[in-house]
Amino acid sequence: ERRAEGSAHAKTILLGEHAVVYGRPAIAFPLASLTITALARTTTRGLSLETPYHRGSVARDDGTSPREVLLAEAALRHTLDFLGKPHHGVDVTVTGSIPAARGLGSSAAVASAISAAVAGLDGVRLSNAERFELVQFVERIAHGTPSGLDAHATMASGPILFERGEAHPLAMATLPPLVVADTGIRGHTGAAVAMVRARRERDARGVDASLDDIAVLVAGAQADLASGDLAALGERMYVCHGILSELGVSSPELNALVSAARQAGALGAKLTGGGQGGCVIALAPTAAAVPQLAAALTAAGAHGVWSVTGSEETT
Ligand code: PMV
Repeated sequence: ERRAEGSAHAKTILLGEHAVVYGRPAIAFPLASLTITALARTTTRGLSLETPYHRGSVARDDGTSPREVLLAEAALRHTLDFLGKPHHGVDVTVTGSIPAARGLGSSAAVASAISAAVAGLDGVRLSNAERFELVQFVERIAHGTPSGLDAHATMASGPILFERGEAHPLAMATLPPLVVADTGIRGHTGAAVAMVRARRERDARGVDASLDDIAVLVAGAQADLASGDLAALGERMYVCHGILSELGVSSPELNALVSAARQAGALGAKLTGGGQGGCVIALAPTAAAVPQLAAALTAAGAHGVWSVTGSEETT
């Protein structure tokens, strides 16, 4: 029996979700405390896959598998195709802590970890470009027209500026004390992206103006991060949440966590990821104030709160 492992971390979008689907820039941070690990083993049996969401054989095509399992299976099969290998003789066990469908990039992380592990069985180390393509294949199944931000962010070891299809390391004076809080409600990135698209078909000028406003916030945030102006950065986050709410991708629960962050003294807060559920990202005034902000978000009903540490290694 041969074995190989792959892992990937969660990501959180500081600014730029949705606008990035239409070619605008976005900023994302790794969320190092949440990871996915895939262990691939050769077997004499067919293809089997175990994920945090289910156990058992892959050969179930009765449509009852949860969405996350179908995506993991697509990653497994597509990686085998890429390697020119048959669809049997591999067993993959996925473990990890990234909650699914919360805008934290779980589908990209699962796909990235699986592709690295399965390629590793053959001693193949995928290049970042190959891994990106494999993850994008799965992201297309997950939500149609992925910008590529998630696929890059889950491979990046530090904060990135994603622009015109490319990820660039982001210069920062200091690490902003960011926390991510989960509403506990599943978001629907595909539905949220489709809703923005439908709205844009009705009102191209209005929606494009909003997307341009988000792009201006991203450029400003890039400067704030470089200079360490957290107050300005935070204000841009609040403004962005307002724009995303107007676009229709927020929810009462997301708005409640943003309000709770504001009341607890956060410099900024907004939804993060596709929205309509999922998480908010909030900026504490200092690193020392992070526990208090996290406690306030938990008291306001957050199901999980994680601080953003800024860097993570990917294997
Ligand atoms: O996967 P999520 O929920 O973090 O959403 C990704 C961000 C979007 O801009 C909404 C979609 C995309 O493809 O970039």
